[in-house]
Amino acid sequence: MAYSGVFQPGDKVQLTDPKRRHFTIELVPGANFHTHKGMVPHDDIIGADEGSVVTSSLGTEFLCFRHLMVDHVLSMPRGAAVIYPKDAAQILIEGDIFAGARVLEAGAGSGALSMALLRAVGKEGHVYSYELREDHLAYARDNVEEYFGERPAHWSPRQGDFGEVTKEDLDGPVDRVILDMVEPWHFLETVKDILIPGGVFMTYVATVPQLMNIVEGIRELQCFTEPRSWETLLREWKVEGLATRPEHRMNAHTAFLVFTRRLADGVTPPRPQRKARR
Ligand SMILES: C[S@@+](CC[C@H](N)C(=O)[O-])C[C@H]1O[C@@H](n2cnc3c(N)ncnc32)[C@H](O)[C@@H]1O
Repeated sequence: MAYSGVFQPGDKVQLTDPKRRHFTIELVPGANFHTHKGMVPHDDIIGADEGSVVTSSLGTEFLCFRHLMVDHVLSMPRGAAVIYPKDAAQILIEGDIFAGARVLEAGAGSGALSMALLRAVGKEGHVYSYELREDHLAYARDNVEEYFGERPAHWSPRQGDFGEVTKEDLDGPVDRVILDMVEPWHFLETVKDILIPGGVFMTYVATVPQLMNIVEGIRELQCFTEPRSWETLLREWKVEGLATRPEHRMNAHTAFLVFTRRLADGVTPPRPQRKARR
């Protein structure tokens, strides 16, 4: 599967018309793409550079690019809500997902985060994706395989309850754990057991009661650092001369992120010192 270079048969190409409408096609030699704006032979695209413009039989111009991962995530079929790109980006950097890392995520849901993790850890790393529901795991498998063109060898999608996972199932401790599920606080003992000392644990929760429960649960267990919690607000801007301004609409809330790190065995978190009030 090529991610750059000239278009090849089998590539998924996004065609954008002058009204910025998108059409996705898979390139097949000899095939044609038909719209009410005319017909485009796939052979006009195969062999062209990405970013080329093709003209339909009725004279409409279409801009051609391969799908980026974000395009795939936002358009793919889903069984469960996905982690949005702005939050996945936070998880990759704040969660320190490094090349070669061994990462566990649950639930796999529709596979959106799985894709981002798989790319970040690379072939030297490994991603274990646990999912309770077979139907959701089927979406994750299909979406990941569709994006990578095959099942990545460094991916283990597994149906099962995260609460029952042991280090033995994973051939040893993992470096990072990411939970995206409704009640992650029930599974903190499992996180403690499978995460290497110093490892990062992040969780993604949508509501304030969930945020309070997970943060209090992390504190109670006394084997993690004081958790950090935040949300990321993304506001796009329209930039057009004197009309330049923030867009009127935005996704104001997706979820909160919580970050903590596993302490070494037998260590309790030092008590945070507060400045004395004068
Ligand atoms: C919001 S979805 C996850 C979306 C996913 N992170 C993505 O980006 O596509 C939450 C998933 O967690 C799964 N889940 C809930 N409890 C679980 C558990 N104990 N073990 C494994 N998966 C669980 C649910 O079935 C659901 O599919």
